[in-house]
Amino acid sequence: MPLHLKANIPVSDTHIPQHVAIIMDGNGRWAREKGLPRREGHRAGAESVREVVEACKKLGVRFLTLYAFSSENWKRPKAEIRALMALLKEFLRVKTPEMKSQGVRLHAIGRLEDLPSDCQRELYSAIDQTSSNSDIDLVLALSYGSREEIVDAARQLASEAANGILNPEDIDNDLMGQKLYTKNIPDPDLLIRTSGERRLSNFLLWQISYAEIVISEKFWPDFREPDLKAAIAEYGERNRRFGSI
Ligand code: IPE
Ligand code: IPE
Ligand code: MG
Repeated sequence: MPLHLKANIPVSDTHIPQHVAIIMDGNGRWAREKGLPRREGHRAGAESVREVVEACKKLGVRFLTLYAFSSENWKRPKAEIRALMALLKEFLRVKTPEMKSQGVRLHAIGRLEDLPSDCQRELYSAIDQTSSNSDIDLVLALSYGSREEIVDAARQLASEAANGILNPEDIDNDLMGQKLYTKNIPDPDLLIRTSGERRLSNFLLWQISYAEIVISEKFWPDFREPDLKAAIAEYGERNRRFGSI
């Protein structure tokens, strides 16, 4: 689905990141600490999603990308995958009217064709119903893996070159970016990972080249508006040099 977003990005306060990306981690540990099944952690995490989307909108963040399910998460027990997919479907069904009325435009990145067909239907319907909104763009990374995304891009470029449509010399950073799932979405300025883990877990490896990274010790279901504000305040104090001096 082509996105044409760059034109209407407002010039905002440089201390507010234009694009925030979040690795929402720690749902399972949150549940374990409370003696609950893991799926209850995922359910509680959905409430954090609602609050963080709303807070981002209020603060003037234009793009929010949430890592909801990775390519590697298919390795989890079938029952947990089923619970996650059921929650995704429920989230989309319940939240779409809210997103519609709150100016949220939904997108999804990843190998969406791997999702169960009922989830795909709900997802495409939510994307369609919110497509004319423009206050904030919410990007859900689903069955997403950055290496897979880069492989898909390489395949496209190789096939265009093999068909004589593309001269390999013309491949540059911009063209590569245009072949990624995130084409037309600016690179994240701030990457947040919750639950204290210090790794990227195959998330947006190309796009976060110059993102500022903030790690929150909180489990995702406990990460709410004040924690987002704290992360953004930390971002505001960083000196982004982009290789310059
Ligand atoms: C993040 O929480 C949600 C997904 C990866 C789907 P986890 O399920 O990874 O929770 P922990 O890391 O086991 O605590
Ligand atoms: C990353 O969390 C994926 C998502 C948040 C969707 P994981 O819990 O899957 O990552 P690892 O396994 O700890 O690296
Ligand atoms: Mg985890």
